[in-house]
Amino acid sequence: MRTELTFANLAGIETDLLAVVAVDTQTAKGSDAKPEPVLLSNDKAVKAAAAAVLASGEYKAGANETLLLHAPAGLKAKRLLIVGLGKQAKATAHTVRNAAGTAVRFTKPRGIRELTFAQPESDLLPPGPCIRAIVEGAIIADFDPDTYRSDRKDLSVKSFTVAAPSANPGTDQDVAKAAFAEGGIIGESQNFARVQVNEPGNVLTPTVFGQRAAAMAKEVGLQCEVHSTEKLHELKMGAFWSVSQGSEEPPALIVLRYEPQGVTEGPVLGLVGKGITFDTGGISIKPSDNMEKMKYDMAGGAAMLGAMRAIALLKPKVRVIGIVCASENMPDGKAQKPGDVQTAMSGKTIEIINTDAEGRLVLADGLCYAKQLGATHLIDAATLTGACVVALGMVNAGAFSNDDATFEKFNSALATSGEKFWRLPLGEEYAEMIKSDIGDVKNTGGRWGGAITAAEFLKVFAEDTPWIHLDIAGMAWIEENKPYIAKGPSGIAVRSILEWVRSY
Ligand code: BES
Ligand code: MN
Ligand code: ZN
Repeated sequence: MRTELTFANLAGIETDLLAVVAVDTQTAKGSDAKPEPVLLSNDKAVKAAAAAVLASGEYKAGANETLLLHAPAGLKAKRLLIVGLGKQAKATAHTVRNAAGTAVRFTKPRGIRELTFAQPESDLLPPGPCIRAIVEGAIIADFDPDTYRSDRKDLSVKSFTVAAPSANPGTDQDVAKAAFAEGGIIGESQNFARVQVNEPGNVLTPTVFGQRAAAMAKEVGLQCEVHSTEKLHELKMGAFWSVSQGSEEPPALIVLRYEPQGVTEGPVLGLVGKGITFDTGGISIKPSDNMEKMKYDMAGGAAMLGAMRAIALLKPKVRVIGIVCASENMPDGKAQKPGDVQTAMSGKTIEIINTDAEGRLVLADGLCYAKQLGATHLIDAATLTGACVVALGMVNAGAFSNDDATFEKFNSALATSGEKFWRLPLGEEYAEMIKSDIGDVKNTGGRWGGAITAAEFLKVFAEDTPWIHLDIAGMAWIEENKPYIAKGPSGIAVRSILEWVRSY
């Protein structure tokens, strides 16, 4: 999909489809409070073309509600699509992101190849964040997961144009241009992560994951090293290796570095991702129902690669190290067994209770290595626990931190990213639950509070370094199609991690 930005009066735009947004301005509550849909456009001709249908009561401007008009009078566009944002008071750049996505996913299956999306005109919606969100939403919506279908119809939208008002030249146009470019980079980076997550385990082995990271790094100008078995042994990564030892496929330790020119002081941010390219559970094998889903157990690693891609292109003034611990988790003759004791890179010993709690093992050494490479602040992302999905459903991802100030920066970043994370607690009582009788820690803490005891395990390896842990198990895969995004890999955490990095 090609994206463009134009400054023009809407009525004069020649396009197959012109999309404009509407809000419901009704503030009264109760069953006889009828919706009052209003277009967020100052264009007289567009308003006139939509006037009759808006007055009819047929269209309520609900969130992502669409209405299509053919041959709208007074417009050069062949079609006019109205997309609802819902209640006016709740309209934000985030609802606009979804509306742009809805317009693309409306257009795609109808074989319409190009559309123009009008920047909403409202005092409540600042142009910069709005334009960025529109581009992100459109690129995210263009993605479909049916990569391996032999009869795949190429229904992709060829061209997506954002139309900003022509009335305000000068600095306003510069703001719009910068926001447009930024949205493109971020949307493409999120899709880069989604492409990797969508790949089946037989295609995306740890080695291939490493190759893709290296190719991306070369493209955007990041330093990249991909290590394997030998380096794991050299670094004494006993926790990471304990997961990889049961697989024929060698592990990949992917290390990316972003070092902006002239920045030699200040924080070094360490981004660490879980990259289990397939999780069978190992000897503590998973039931076969839904096991195919475990190809997405590298979504945390993919999120880190997506974030690093965006960082390389947006060039914030802070040093960043990205680490992905990629491995399969398989049961074979060499696989680790429950009861085994492993020595992590940090020197701490781990009693393996359940080989299916493998994510925390690879991350333990990933976090330790990030610190050794100089990270002063850590963030990790992982599809870590089913318990987190039980706690928060598929609405919020879990977040944990050992440092309030660091977490506050992440929380503020969410206002820009529009992603939902909910902080869960840590504490001494939870830490007690993972003490081992034979060694320092055990890799599971029992049934209750499973997302928290997993986070406590990671905290043992983050030690005193300010650290954030993101458990994205419930949010990395979307179970049902939505008007603005296909079911399948979501690309969650790319945008939030990026904004957190940019806050330094
Ligand atoms: N990859 C899974 C977690 C997961 C579950 C991700 C559902 C996505 C959807 C993880 O490796 C795992 O198996 N966790 C176990 C931990 C348990 C053995 C302590 C779990 O959550 O059951
Ligand atoms: Mn597992
Ligand atoms: Zn796993």
